[in-house]
Amino acid sequence: MPTGASGGAGGQSERQRAIPPGQERRLIVAIDGPAGAGKSTTARLLAERLGYALLDTGAIYRTMALRARERGISWDDGPGVAALAEGLEIGFRLDGAVNRVFANGADVTAAIRTPEMSDGASRVSALPEVRAALLDLQRRIGGAGGVVVEGRDIGTVVFPHAEAKFFLTASTDERARRRAAELRAAGKPADEAQTRAEIVARDERDSTRAAAPLRRADDAVEIDSSALGPDQVVSKMAGLVAEIVAARARVSGGA
Ligand code: DC
Repeated sequence: MPTGASGGAGGQSERQRAIPPGQERRLIVAIDGPAGAGKSTTARLLAERLGYALLDTGAIYRTMALRARERGISWDDGPGVAALAEGLEIGFRLDGAVNRVFANGADVTAAIRTPEMSDGASRVSALPEVRAALLDLQRRIGGAGGVVVEGRDIGTVVFPHAEAKFFLTASTDERARRRAAELRAAGKPADEAQTRAEIVARDERDSTRAAAPLRRADDAVEIDSSALGPDQVVSKMAGLVAEIVAARARVSGGA
């Protein structure tokens, strides 16, 4: 499977789209935020609603952690892990609600979604060599626009010129509750207190690292999803994207 994001404009009828035909501009929509804030679900639903492709950059860091583990390379070895990006082809395919991830054609969806790989991804993502090695790959996949990209540094580093930027948050308790429920739904054991501790440790590492730490871009719209369902979050986002698209259409149309 070639390198690329999931989905695209093809799967949606004109009627389903949030943006009126004729006004469309293929934007880059960035969604950043801490673990468990609901980025994956909202990014998928927003991409579906807009008829955009979907790029999950956390899955790329998870895949790097998995490759390192399989090859016996330490998660602290910057040059060693970065070298694993060479020849890496990442592909995504939406399969119902699951965004399937392929590394050089092999389906790694389940293997990268373990608590161990969450930890590994957070560790390898702190290495500057690894971040540098993955920058081009991410820009190649999402750079043409018409894409919703989720991660930690999308609005700040990967696509600082993204036309729409969101920073999605939720209380730590709520994020732990959601992540534990996700694990249980996948048939994995999940202790909420332990999940909470893992999330707190991961956020601390992700936001205090020197290289591209998790932070809200100055021009990102912050949405606290603690008391909101995914549909409510997506409606807010889609509304804002529609406003941006309409404003751009007015500017380029000279109105
Ligand atoms: O979104 P996620 O939980 O799948 O991300 C896994 C880890 O990858 C996360 O702890 C931090 C890292 N990450 C990152 O540093 N930058 C990104 N753009 C996406 C993820």
